[in-house]
Amino acid sequence: MRNSLILVLGGTGTVGGRVAARLRAEGHRVRVATRHTEQRFDWADPGTWAGVLSGVPQLFVLLPDQTGLPEAFLPAARDAGVRRLVLHSDRGLDVMGYAHLQQTELAVRESGLDWTIVRPDWFHQDFETFFRPAVVDGRLCVPVGEARQGFIDAGDIAAVEVAMFGRPDLIGEVIEVTGPRALSFGEAVATIGRATGREIVFDGSEEGYRAVMRADGVPDEVVDALVAGFTALRDRGDTEPTGQVERILGRPGRDFADYVAAGAADGLWEGTSGPAAG
Ligand SMILES: NC(=O)c1ccc[n+]([C@@H]2O[C@H](COP(=O)([O-])OP(=O)(O)OC[C@H]3O[C@@H](n4cnc5c(N)ncnc54)[C@H](OP(=O)(O)O)[C@@H]3O)[C@@H](O)[C@H]2O)c1
Repeated sequence: MRNSLILVLGGTGTVGGRVAARLRAEGHRVRVATRHTEQRFDWADPGTWAGVLSGVPQLFVLLPDQTGLPEAFLPAARDAGVRRLVLHSDRGLDVMGYAHLQQTELAVRESGLDWTIVRPDWFHQDFETFFRPAVVDGRLCVPVGEARQGFIDAGDIAAVEVAMFGRPDLIGEVIEVTGPRALSFGEAVATIGRATGREIVFDGSEEGYRAVMRADGVPDEVVDALVAGFTALRDRGDTEPTGQVERILGRPGRDFADYVAAGAADGLWEGTSGPAAG
């Protein structure tokens, strides 16, 4: 299936953009479809699916945050001729209780397609997307205490996911990917602080997080659900690197400190807490 078309759903975001670019660089034929591409694809609008799926034997699926796979999607993909599926999932799905992704993985396992599921840990790039405003304002609250996480670079996640299209031996496998070393949010924030000269406080307490969310006007029931997920992660304790990036790619994953050094040089945490430039 080397020269067959690969459809990349979610292929313009943090990881999906890197997946599409890497597939193209490796000489694959690629179709990217989102709500904003010329050929429009919307998970919420089944009328947009058939055209995008047409003529596609291989499929990469990355769902937006908090979104599960619609029940009708995999049957539609199979009917359209899809045979191979690589699903970008989430390593936190069981401990944090992400029912939408648990259901998605189950549907994939039962789809009859040749599937591989990749479950990444926290992305390095979270510090330039949804954590950036707090980092730039000098105070990040995430109620995970000092438990060490398996932060991984989006480039390494994409490299593993792309590699799956050439690894029929990993069909039917769930691959958990982490960076080369686990580190706590406090250690991560201190790394950014040293590289940028900014003073950044990390508060891993539940009370601190609730106060921030309350000030942002987030409803209590939403905060309760978020706190339950984060504190479950805290109570799990330190995670261990899985070594899968090294095994699959034959090279070490990118260290968080390298990501931060490059990000600081690019000015990722300069200026105020608006969206990052570029
Ligand atoms: N952040 C983490 O630390 C982490 C860790 C592990 C796993 N994950 C998982 O990774 C995923 C998020 O990855 P990401 O941050 O790379 O995503 P992202 O940057 O937010 O990109 C989302 C992609 O989905 C597309 N999209 C959004 N809504 C859509 C819709 N209704 N229909 C079709 N396409 C839509 C977007 O394009 P358009 O906006 O143009 O439609 C974009 O291409 C989630 O499933 C999350 O659970 C995240």
